[in-house]
Amino acid sequence: MGCDNNIGVSLASFVLVSSLLLLSPILYVSEAQNYPPIVKGLSWDFYDSICPDVEHIIRNHLKKVFKENVGLAAALLRIHFHDCFVLGCEGSILLDGTAGETSEKLAAPNLNLRREAFKIVNDLRKLVHSRCGRVVSCADIVALAARDAVHLSKGPYYNIPLGRRDGVRIATSDEILADLPPPSFNTTLILITLAPKNFTTTDVVALSGAHTIGRSHCISIADRLFGSSIDPTMDPELAQHLLKLCPDLASINSTTAFMMDPRTPNTFDNKYYINLVNHQGLFTSDQDLYTDNRTRDLVTKFAANQTFFFEKFVEFMLKMGQLSVLTGDAGEIRANCSARNNETYFSTYPVVEGKKWATY
Ligand SMILES: *[C@@H]1O[C@H](CO)[C@@H](O)[C@H](O)[C@H]1NC(C)=O
Ligand SMILES: *[C@@H]1O[C@H](CO)[C@@H](O)[C@H](O)[C@H]1NC(C)=O
Ligand SMILES: *[C@@H]1O[C@H](CO)[C@@H](O)[C@H](O)[C@H]1NC(C)=O
Ligand SMILES: *[C@@H]1O[C@H](CO)[C@@H](O)[C@H](O)[C@H]1NC(C)=O
Ligand SMILES: *[C@@H]1O[C@H](CO)[C@@H](O)[C@H](O)[C@H]1NC(C)=O
Ligand SMILES: *[C@@H]1O[C@H](CO)[C@@H](O)[C@H](O)[C@H]1NC(C)=O
Ligand SMILES: *[C@@H]1O[C@H](CO)[C@@H](O)[C@H](O)[C@H]1NC(C)=O
Repeated sequence: MGCDNNIGVSLASFVLVSSLLLLSPILYVSEAQNYPPIVKGLSWDFYDSICPDVEHIIRNHLKKVFKENVGLAAALLRIHFHDCFVLGCEGSILLDGTAGETSEKLAAPNLNLRREAFKIVNDLRKLVHSRCGRVVSCADIVALAARDAVHLSKGPYYNIPLGRRDGVRIATSDEILADLPPPSFNTTLILITLAPKNFTTTDVVALSGAHTIGRSHCISIADRLFGSSIDPTMDPELAQHLLKLCPDLASINSTTAFMMDPRTPNTFDNKYYINLVNHQGLFTSDQDLYTDNRTRDLVTKFAANQTFFFEKFVEFMLKMGQLSVLTGDAGEIRANCSARNNETYFSTYPVVEGKKWATY
């Protein structure tokens, strides 16, 4: 019957399988993986001669980081999403603000990205650059860290085409809001928001599975708890549980955090979809995937077959990870992931001929 092997395995064999995965990380999801085409300028062997250890350095450091604080895996994965969705995968989300610009980190959809995770990215950059020199971009480091976050949480491993360069522009708050749909969006609105990125319905259902790890806050479920009635598509027991954490509208900005996948909070698996089938999705954008008849079948299939979910998730990650990348001579390789390099900043600063500087 349609029961996936991964659901019923005994604990002993699960531990064995997962430790084998960690020992031999170069396991592909499937020989038949339907990889999307690779963008010009990226390649599978980009660092083979200039920084052959980059992937080992990142993975080894992250193993230690996650042993201390497993929650940072979800945080690193989210940074990659929030980087790629806005202006493409070029590390603009990492930039601190300057006198004239507000950091993307301070826009509403990014406020809950964990600050420790941005520090980890800079720590990785330091480790990699001290070994190889300034040749690896922050955007590539984020893409690799996200991949390792998934894999070290027992999710799929996948190879990543590399060679991204770092951008020199910070997105405006309008751009950020237009590109990062809020958790209160239903499937229709999510599909419309993401259509310009050429994401398919399958992509949208698969990317949502990233909510299998990580935590959330009251603000993201307020629309379901505090409308004219509690969202009828929410399991009443879950609603009662959430109301203890977020009792009323006055609590919506609280720092109370709860796990997004209570079944297996820190394991990257398909339990997220099992939650949806049981009306235990957290956000409107989650649960509506099971309500909407365009996406319901896929949710059911992912809930029944983890291998199928992993396959589609990897296809999505490869596609998303190449959105509007900068390659070749475009952009720069930042010396500090939180700041542009001075030389590039000044050489690309838009000079308007004949314009007089305002006096401040
Ligand atoms: C999705 O949300 C929009 C905005 O609230 C609403 O107009 C639309 O009817 C909703 N669509 C469905 C299918 O629920
Ligand atoms: C989406 O596909 C169209 C047509 O192939 C292409 O012109 C456009 O650049 C793509 N958009 C993105 C964000 O990749
Ligand atoms: C929550 O925070 C937002 C943005 O800072 C603010 O506009 C709103 O009034 C706050 N709500 C409550 C109930 O504190
Ligand atoms: C999905 O539901 C809508 C309205 O509820 C209906 O019009 C449409 O025919 C349904 N589509 C499928 C494929 O079932
Ligand atoms: C689960 O999905 C995989 C990958 O698409 C497929 O090869 C396999 O046949 C599916 N298993 C079942 C029981 O449907
Ligand atoms: C990196 O840049 C940020 C933002 O300008 C700055 O606060 C930080 O001190 C810099 N780090 C190093 C090591 O120079
Ligand atoms: C950039 O310039 C500032 C001041 O002009 C200096 O403090 C800083 O160290 C420089 N950063 C880099 C990465 O060269």
